Amino acid sequence: MKFDAVIFDLDGVICSTDEYHYKAWKTMADGMGIPFDRTVNNRLRGVSRMASLEIILEKYKGPALSPEQKEDLAREKNDLYRESLREMSTADLPEEVKETLDALRGKGLKLAIGSSSKNTPFILGQIGLGNYFDAVSDGNNITRSKPDPEVFVKAAEMLGIPADRCLVVEDAVSGAEAGHRGGMMVACVGDAAKNGAGDWNMESIRELTEIVKG
Ligand code: BG6
Ligand code: MG
Repeated sequence: MKFDAVIFDLDGVICSTDEYHYKAWKTMADGMGIPFDRTVNNRLRGVSRMASLEIILEKYKGPALSPEQKEDLAREKNDLYRESLREMSTADLPEEVKETLDALRGKGLKLAIGSSSKNTPFILGQIGLGNYFDAVSDGNNITRSKPDPEVFVKAAEMLGIPADRCLVVEDAVSGAEAGHRGGMMVACVGDAAKNGAGDWNMESIRELTEIVKG
C-alpha cells in the first residue's frame, strides 16, 4: 500500500455543506448589497470563517466596519448556516462516500478529518460519523487555516503516521496547497480537481481505492 492513512477535508468532500456555506454567505452579502457569486465563493473553500468574510468584504463599498461589526456579520452567517446543518441527517452522507470510507478502512488504512470548520463535530454527528474517524483535526484545534498545513500536520500527529504516508483528499485549491506544504500527496475532487490542484484529480471519490494501492 502506498499510504497508511487518508485525511479527508469535510465540507465539499464528505458532504455537500459547501453549498450551505455558499447560500448563507450569499444571504448575508445580498443583505449588504455586496456582489457575491460562485467564483468568489470558490476562493472561500478551505478558508476560515473570518478570513472568508474579509474576502467577501473586498467588494464592500460602505463605511468602514469595526471588528465588532465584523464579528456580528460572521455570527449572522454562522446562524444561517447552522439552520441548514440542523436539517442534515444520515441521508446527507452520499453512498459513494460511505462505501469508499469503509473500503479504505477494510484495507487497513487509518482515516482522519482535516477541516478548517469549527462546526465539524456537529456535522459529523448529523451525518452519522460522530465516532467513525481515527482522528479529527478541525477549526477548533488550529490557529492558522488552509493554505497553512497546520490542520493536516496535526491530523497526522494525532494518527502517529508520518506525512509522506498520508494522503489528503480536498475540494479546495487552498486545501491542496495545505496538504502539499505539509509534505503530503493530495487527491482532489470538485473545484480543486477542475483546477488541476491535486497529484490526482478525480471525477469520483471512489477512485481513492485504486490510488492508495500505488
Ligand atoms: C471550511 C470551508 O471547511 O470551513 C470554508 O471550506 C469555511 O468555506 C471554513 O469558511 C470554516 O467553517 P466554519 O463552519 O467554522 O464557519
Ligand atoms: Mg472543502
